[in-house]
Amino acid sequence: MGILLGLRVDQTGDGDAEGKFLHCPRPRRVQGDEEGAGILRLTGSTPTVDRHLTDRPPRAPAGLGIAPAESSRHGIAVASVERLGKRYGRRQAVDGVSFEVKEREVVGLLGPNGSGKTTILRVITGYLRPSEGTVRIDGFDVVRDGHQARARIGYVPENAPLYGHMRVDEFLHFMGRLRGLRGGALRRGIESARARLALEPVGDAVIGRLSRGYRQRVSIAQAVLNEPKLLVLDEPTNGLDPRQVIELRGLLRTLARDSAVLITSHVLAEMERVADRVAILLDGRLLTVHQLAGAGRGTSLRVRARADRADEVAVALSGLAGIGGVTREEPEGGLAGWRVEVSEAGAAPRVAAALCLAGIASVETVETASDLEELFLRLTASRALQ
Ligand SMILES: Nc1ncnc2c1ncn2[C@@H]1O[C@H](COP(=O)(O)OP(=O)(O)OP(=O)(O)O)[C@@H](O)[C@H]1O
Ligand SMILES: [Mg+2]
Repeated sequence: MGILLGLRVDQTGDGDAEGKFLHCPRPRRVQGDEEGAGILRLTGSTPTVDRHLTDRPPRAPAGLGIAPAESSRHGIAVASVERLGKRYGRRQAVDGVSFEVKEREVVGLLGPNGSGKTTILRVITGYLRPSEGTVRIDGFDVVRDGHQARARIGYVPENAPLYGHMRVDEFLHFMGRLRGLRGGALRRGIESARARLALEPVGDAVIGRLSRGYRQRVSIAQAVLNEPKLLVLDEPTNGLDPRQVIELRGLLRTLARDSAVLITSHVLAEMERVADRVAILLDGRLLTVHQLAGAGRGTSLRVRARADRADEVAVALSGLAGIGGVTREEPEGGLAGWRVEVSEAGAAPRVAAALCLAGIASVETVETASDLEELFLRLTASRALQ
């Protein structure tokens, strides 16, 4: 946080009616600004530009000492995905994806068909080996400590196969034994799963004759038998009717009290209702991690710099923590532009200050994107510009 010590907040706004500025003192000569002060605009709608463009920004300090914006609201990370890549032969299905799922948090992986959602879940759950990067579950690496990692995960695959001829209790018993549960632990696991998924009335029912909603609950029950730290569900609402979708939503919120939950969907509205944060994927790449629930909704920063400095800006941005995603915007008045998603509003000043110190001329906060659909469209459209 030492990075902030050199900054002075001018609450008077220096005669600017739109908002306050952060003055970012610079030890070097700044082109067209003998005082050596870059300016960051933290509120307002019009970007301040060229007089603050520097000749040569300092190299972006690694990490910049900024805490990831996502660390504050929930506890420690249950799942940490770092620069994950997965190739199928020559096809790069997942590329450089990083995100975390914290205790008691529901994180949604959102993306169109083929964007890599299922592939990421399969690597996290140990069914596929990553081509690049690492995944840790409760600190255990899914490759090196696969057994430990898997013991902490409950997985509900898409169209989870169920033994249709088995009765519900029989199936849960069978799956519990497969997980290595025995005796009292097995009994307690089954009782708790039956209660949490409200399966008591159908314990003796043959699975194949249950409604789809009940079959879905049986799938989830088998995944929580071992009280997992992380519950992973691939498109769990597929094929459910509206009432069943609503019930499932309630169930997931309840389950999230005991396990962190990672869920995929390509339905935006569904994610808005159930997830705390949503990671948006396109073509195997993460576009942003966006805060949905609670007070800390996402904020974005608009960054402007001279077009010939674009590479340096990109390097500076890639070195910053606390950023959900970066997309290019249409050039404006000869200046290149970026929209930088900040996962929590509170992190915006820190990220803006860091960009300033890295020599980026103009940073402006813009209205919070509260509408996931709008965010998704903007992010996916801006990819076409890159
Ligand atoms: N076993 C495989 N072999 C080769 N390519 C694969 C394999 N599995 C997935 N792919 C490809 O990898 C990409 C990502 O697939 P994935 O199933 O992870 O996407 P998804 O986001 O889950 O899609 P959907 O919404 O359709 O479930 C796709 O282009 C897909 O065709
Ligand atoms: Mg899928």
